[in-house]
Amino acid sequence: MRLHVNDTDHDAVPRPGQCLRTLLRELGWFGVKKGCDSGDCGACTVWLDGQPVHSCVTPAFRAEGRAVTTIEGLAATAGADALHPMQRRFLAAQGFQCGFCTPGMVLTAASLDQAQRRDLAASMKGNLCRCTGYGAIGDAIDGIVHTEPDDGIASAFGRNVPAPAGPAVVTGRARYTLDAAPLPGLLHLKLLRSPHAFARIVSVDVTAALALPGVQLVLTPSDSPARLFSTARHENPLEDPDDTRVLDGVVRFVGQRVAAVVADSEAAAEAGCRALQVEYEVLQAVFDPEAAMRPGAPLVHGDKGPASRIHDPSHNLVAAVESSSGDPVAGFAAAEIVHEASYTTQRVQHASLETHGAIGWLDQGCLTVRSSTQTPFLTRRALCDLFDLPPERVRVLCERVGGGFGGKQEMLVEDIVALAVLRTGRPVRLEFTREEQFIGAPSRHPMRVAVKLGAKRDGTLTAIHLRVVSNTGAYGNHGPGVLHHGCSESIGVYRCPNKRVEGYAVYTNTVPAGAFRGYGLSQTVFAVESAMDELARALRLDPFELRRRNVIGPDGAPHSADDTAHTDIEMGSYGLDQCLKLVESALRRGAGTKPPDPSWQVGDGMALAMIITTPPGGHFAQARIALCAGGIYELTVGTAEFGNGTTTVHAQIAAAVLGTRPTAIRIRQSDTALLGHDTGAYGSTGSVVAGQATERAALALRDRLLDRAAIQLCVDRAACHLHGAAVQAGTARLALDALHAASEAELVGTGSSAGTPRSIAFNVQGFRVAVQPGTGEIRILHSVQAADAGRVINPMQCRGQVQGGTAQAIGATLYEELRIDAAGRVVNPAFRHYHIPAWADLPRTEVLFADTTDRVGPLGAKSMSESPYNPVAAALANAVADATGVRCRDLPLAPDRVFRALAAHNV
Ligand code: FES
Repeated sequence: MRLHVNDTDHDAVPRPGQCLRTLLRELGWFGVKKGCDSGDCGACTVWLDGQPVHSCVTPAFRAEGRAVTTIEGLAATAGADALHPMQRRFLAAQGFQCGFCTPGMVLTAASLDQAQRRDLAASMKGNLCRCTGYGAIGDAIDGIVHTEPDDGIASAFGRNVPAPAGPAVVTGRARYTLDAAPLPGLLHLKLLRSPHAFARIVSVDVTAALALPGVQLVLTPSDSPARLFSTARHENPLEDPDDTRVLDGVVRFVGQRVAAVVADSEAAAEAGCRALQVEYEVLQAVFDPEAAMRPGAPLVHGDKGPASRIHDPSHNLVAAVESSSGDPVAGFAAAEIVHEASYTTQRVQHASLETHGAIGWLDQGCLTVRSSTQTPFLTRRALCDLFDLPPERVRVLCERVGGGFGGKQEMLVEDIVALAVLRTGRPVRLEFTREEQFIGAPSRHPMRVAVKLGAKRDGTLTAIHLRVVSNTGAYGNHGPGVLHHGCSESIGVYRCPNKRVEGYAVYTNTVPAGAFRGYGLSQTVFAVESAMDELARALRLDPFELRRRNVIGPDGAPHSADDTAHTDIEMGSYGLDQCLKLVESALRRGAGTKPPDPSWQVGDGMALAMIITTPPGGHFAQARIALCAGGIYELTVGTAEFGNGTTTVHAQIAAAVLGTRPTAIRIRQSDTALLGHDTGAYGSTGSVVAGQATERAALALRDRLLDRAAIQLCVDRAACHLHGAAVQAGTARLALDALHAASEAELVGTGSSAGTPRSIAFNVQGFRVAVQPGTGEIRILHSVQAADAGRVINPMQCRGQVQGGTAQAIGATLYEELRIDAAGRVVNPAFRHYHIPAWADLPRTEVLFADTTDRVGPLGAKSMSESPYNPVAAALANAVADATGVRCRDLPLAPDRVFRALAAHNV
């Protein structure tokens, strides 16, 4: 058939059943993204004869003889060479983070008439975004400008500098992992996954699969390296248990890999999977973590020895923490009031729009893997270990990553792709479907948290006791770290001298949990901050006042039950007092907000959260910056860009140090061939650790430049913020501009950071909600978050991180839940059934910043990607309790659950 795509005629023969999205991508139109396969997310939106359609549910043959417009061709429809007006608006408002949804968003938005633009909740309901919370996208459509022009002012620090990748993102030119023309000889890999929650694989008969046309290779447990590893990626690999194999002879959850088929096409690989004959010996499974800890429970990893570093395989414990400070017994005895209750959180998924995927090949004998990962260097290290290869024989790189949120701090695809490449010698590609993302990729750890608080009548805390049971699922990736982190800052923010923590991370035969924004804190903060609210009500104290009487102050250090973990913490700045005040004032200002009608009940709620700005145990980054011909600087960093905005921040840091414009900084990143090492983009380290390395590299280059030119600097300590090494910005810029013009030879500066000491950041969330007692529905009337991010490098981006984190957490609080049936199967592995917030579901969160400058972070900044998520659930539950007088202690606060709770209390 013939179809016209943008300005090009194509002759194509669609395969039976092929969708338009797949055909367009095969023709090289990579601006058409794949986020689902069911018309739910809109990432694949194109115009068909001028009308937006979801191309993943549009049969390819329907495009015959019709005009298809993808994001690459949008500008031409407006008679423009470079950009359509809507693309310009998305740039001006920076209506994106990772940008994976952006082509679809822009195409839908550009098709709206004036009436449709007045109701964006309805008009944009077919396009999902997991990063932004839709606020910046709405601003873009409304023509609001957030970015500031590059007007030649040397210090771009603290300004809304646009993301360097913006033009590529809005035009569809930005390349993500799988946006690549097929390499010669490319093979496709598909995985056969387990139908059983717990079973031993007796045999795999590959005969029929290998006989199918196009099937080149079948990998079974007998092909797997014997070495055990963890899918989690950490600087210190000993943080996680070695409990996983590339292909294991035992399957421990429904959806685990059983075998892999490598074939000439995806369809042939899928047919090969269907042809495999597997005999299983089904074992008794355990799904509940409390049951799994009891004597006699099935042992998920009973076959493991001490080398796996599992805390206690005979009780399914991957990790445990039991520690005390002070005298908790005496503390509770001294209390005049005690509050005690249990709180539960559910399994929620990252749902980044780009699924996991990788392409591997051999490049002159070097195993090369292009992957959607937050940790290219740690993934290379793991591949070297698994396949006994030296580092120079393995290269891992990533392009722009389409959302991560911690979910890509795992090695979920690279190992099996590498095995297939090494066995075939040919390029191999693997891309998870959306269903695989739900059944085979990690989720947030569900937790049950029992909290006991003792206090004096004036609200002074005398004792805190926390008991945490964390469901790590079938494998222990991130299980220990999430448990320790969750047990730390959630109570560390309170000065109480007597604390006791018992925590258990427990194996069950369910889909493994993993790293997810907040890293355990959102669960424990929900419990502790709900309990603090209940205590405040019992004491008839204002919830803000109860916090003020107990939180650590500017001279304090986190008070956890185990302070040995906090030896390198420095309170580089303190803005919690400001955050409390900002949210309290904002809620007071909005006191008149009206509910939909008088039958709704209205209430306010707040919660706070503290986070240490860098993970413990070492987090390393290197940076290199070179002055190239023409006055351009080339900055090389290891950290990945997945919508967190670190690329912009790095350009701003380097520009501020070098007295130049951010547009003069060209960035190369996330490729093990470029630098020695970088731990990775997780734990909000992209700005504070990699940013520190960038700052130091830029300082080193600046010193070299200034030495060389023998420039006499005018020093004015009050005019600049370079940790006291102040340079009068205007003078430096003029001098350096002259140098740029004269520069012929390349000058280089290098820098590194070990991620220590670590500072502390704070977030306070406030909500006003309305609750409908007749249905249990919750509507958010006002959402406000105050953030202590130190000196804010880019207010527009930082606000976007807070709004996006709050949006994700609202979904996780109100309705998101990965549900698992009695046989261990995920029953809602699709966006249509696992509901992430759509446009209509979210309020616009007001974001306020504390005015602080950090002594530890780069140029005074602190991290602010993870932490906005953490106080949201408790603040919402507290607002619901304020509105109705009924406490909901189990997430999600879905209407049916809230209705039942209200009905039980005759509300
Ligand atoms: Fe929308 Fe990432 S920016 S999904």
